[in-house]
Amino acid sequence: MIDPSTVEEAISRAKAARSQAELTDLRVKYLGRKGIITGALRRIGTLPPEDRASRGAAANAARAEVEAAIDRAERLLRDRQLSHEAKNAKIDLTAPGAKVEYGHAHPVAALVDELVRVFWQMGYEVAEGPEIETEWYNFDALNIPKDHPARDMQDTFYLEEGNLPRTHTSGVQIRYMEEHQPPVRIIVPGKVFRNEDEDARHGWMFQQIEGLVVDEGVTMADLKGTLEAMMHGVLGAGVETRLRPSYFPYTEPSVEMDARCIICNGIGCSTCSGTGWVEVGGAGMVHPQVLRNVKIDPHKYSGFAFGFGPERIAIIKYGVPDVRGFWRPNLKFLEQF
Ligand code: PHE
Repeated sequence: MIDPSTVEEAISRAKAARSQAELTDLRVKYLGRKGIITGALRRIGTLPPEDRASRGAAANAARAEVEAAIDRAERLLRDRQLSHEAKNAKIDLTAPGAKVEYGHAHPVAALVDELVRVFWQMGYEVAEGPEIETEWYNFDALNIPKDHPARDMQDTFYLEEGNLPRTHTSGVQIRYMEEHQPPVRIIVPGKVFRNEDEDARHGWMFQQIEGLVVDEGVTMADLKGTLEAMMHGVLGAGVETRLRPSYFPYTEPSVEMDARCIICNGIGCSTCSGTGWVEVGGAGMVHPQVLRNVKIDPHKYSGFAFGFGPERIAIIKYGVPDVRGFWRPNLKFLEQF
């Protein structure tokens, strides 16, 4: 039997409690395994059967009441503590926040992505080839015989067994045409390697983006329009470019494209060696011998090819006077982009 005064006392003690420890003690005292109310509930079983139901219900109600009172008291205590902490916390709303650092694409990689997007919009497919190339794909198949002076146009690192780190991406033209009949419309982004002294425009490793189109009736006008679309696509319509006659054994006629040097506005500086222009790539109409080398009939088909240097385009796009900045692990420099 639970005396109503026991319940009242439990409830008023819960209300008066000032700490969690006091409330925990109360819970143990009344509701714990050996608690007052628990004991009374256990004794119900010993009562005469006719009394059990009413006494049991009363004891259960008493237990629920005390439990609710302690729960409520705990909640109140916690709320009071939280608002006390909030009132006394010292938050300096004027303190500068901690800056979160995000990584981002390397500026040259971002430019290559942009170039790929421009060509993708014109219906080109992306092709790739190996960075270690055979002499056949890097030179011979491109109409550059062994003792031809054109081999010296690109200073080559040689590996054992006659292979080489490719000096340009042009070998992929051959690899692709061996496997695909015209119409061909591809671009090939990738790294190339040359045994070259470094300066503001040159390094021993750099990126190229090769292009190749072969179909019936492809003309030099198509080439010119495509190169301009590329430059406008990544540098904006305001970029000033020019085509100069040039020589590559695998294109005839051959050209090179220059863009106005942005560092000096065309006046002449060390970045452009005083010329006012920065060479951004070579191009031309695919040489008939190259088509014959891959068993494509040069009487039926014609094509154009180009190889551009993303680092050179990056000079113009970002106004960076020296490509070497792109290859050094200097975060202060790279984080500007
Ligand atoms: N392969 C040439 C270079 O690396 C560029 C080029 C590609 C020229 C295709 C003509 C056609 O300089």
